[in-house]
Amino acid sequence: MVKFIAPSLTIVFLTLAAVKAQSPIVIANFPPPNAIPPTNSTEVQAWIKELGDLSGAPNIPLRSGAPPECANPPAEDECNWTCQQCPADDITACSAPNTWGLTFDDGPSTATPTLLDYLKTNKLSATFFVIGSNVINNPDTVKREITEGHHLASHTWSHNALTTLTNEQIVAEMKWTEKAVMDATGLRMKYMRPPYGDINNRVRFVLKKMGYIPVDWTGDAFDTNDWKMPGVTEDQAVTRFTKSLDDYVASDKAKGFYCLEHDLNAGTVALAQKLIPLGLTRKINIASVAQCEKDAEPYQAGSTAPMPTVSGVPPPSKTSGPGGNSTDSPTSGAITAAPNAAGLMSVAVAAMAVAGAALV
Ligand SMILES: *[C@@H]1O[C@H](CO)[C@@H](O)[C@H](O)[C@H]1NC(C)=O
Ligand SMILES: *[C@@H]1O[C@H](CO)[C@@H](O)[C@H](O)[C@H]1NC(C)=O
Ligand SMILES: *[C@@H]1O[C@H](CO)[C@@H](O)[C@H](O)[C@H]1NC(C)=O
Repeated sequence: MVKFIAPSLTIVFLTLAAVKAQSPIVIANFPPPNAIPPTNSTEVQAWIKELGDLSGAPNIPLRSGAPPECANPPAEDECNWTCQQCPADDITACSAPNTWGLTFDDGPSTATPTLLDYLKTNKLSATFFVIGSNVINNPDTVKREITEGHHLASHTWSHNALTTLTNEQIVAEMKWTEKAVMDATGLRMKYMRPPYGDINNRVRFVLKKMGYIPVDWTGDAFDTNDWKMPGVTEDQAVTRFTKSLDDYVASDKAKGFYCLEHDLNAGTVALAQKLIPLGLTRKINIASVAQCEKDAEPYQAGSTAPMPTVSGVPPPSKTSGPGGNSTDSPTSGAITAAPNAAGLMSVAVAAMAVAGAALV
């Protein structure tokens, strides 16, 4: 008996080890960066099949332009955010009162580590809406973001306007980015921000099929305009955002806000270090999307790494943060296995019990 069970135990534990391990990123296994991934690859075809029927998506014509222009009348039930300011059920404001939902789009870039140093010194946690094409070139930066208590969310593979893409192209954009972050961190993202804020009911339908929750920003006042630099100077951006913060402080502050900000280059990262103190001196709390929404599970089922802990307050920067110390002894890694791995474990144990019973 024991002879038979021992090998199967070994297989079970090898399987769990495989679930726990993250696959190193092999750039050649991903589509070309900064372009819409082909939809006829085996990977994308498998993802589309897995999602099932996309034909229920609202039949709204594909838009054109990058970003799309607001020239034509909208289709019925289009509800686009960029042009109609129609958010449907997108998240558009941080749910916590008096709170700045700190978000950075378009990274990771070579400027990101400087921003991470600053956030660590100031014990702040942010959400990074990452671009898949950048993730595969900077996997260590996304790992660091998790280790230091930040929250990862998707900003697509190539930063194309989603209302201009087919349903299948949207799947390809999201799933390749999801895979890049999974390979780097073991976490399957749950929140996303549409590039240019460009989203309508067709795009929402496809995103929801994949389990994604769109997060827009809280209107034009909270667009830091960092992406317009150097056309907009740093001083102009600071002046504009100062007014937005003052207006916010004068409001009832019942809800927080989400900003539009980028870890794109040294300029935007330098601006971030001027804007954040303006919030802090006004006693506005600063938080990630996971913290704003008090979401204890800010990643989707299917993650292979443990779910990072999200508290109402940013984690202390001194410790390694929610991700835990990844250089812990190997046994502790196994013990703190993700709920998913734990679930698999009980399935495996149950399967063994059945197998055992059969053998007996
Ligand atoms: C996908 O389509 C492109 C362009 O039509 C073609 O060149 C390529 O060979 C196709 N790839 C697969 C895997 O079918
Ligand atoms: C959004 O709606 C506007 C009308 O308010 C329309 O002109 C525009 O084409 C739509 N844009 C997209 C990207 O769907
Ligand atoms: C993680 O823990 C190990 C062992 O306690 C320690 O040597 C290492 O410095 C820690 N690393 C970090 C990043 O805290």
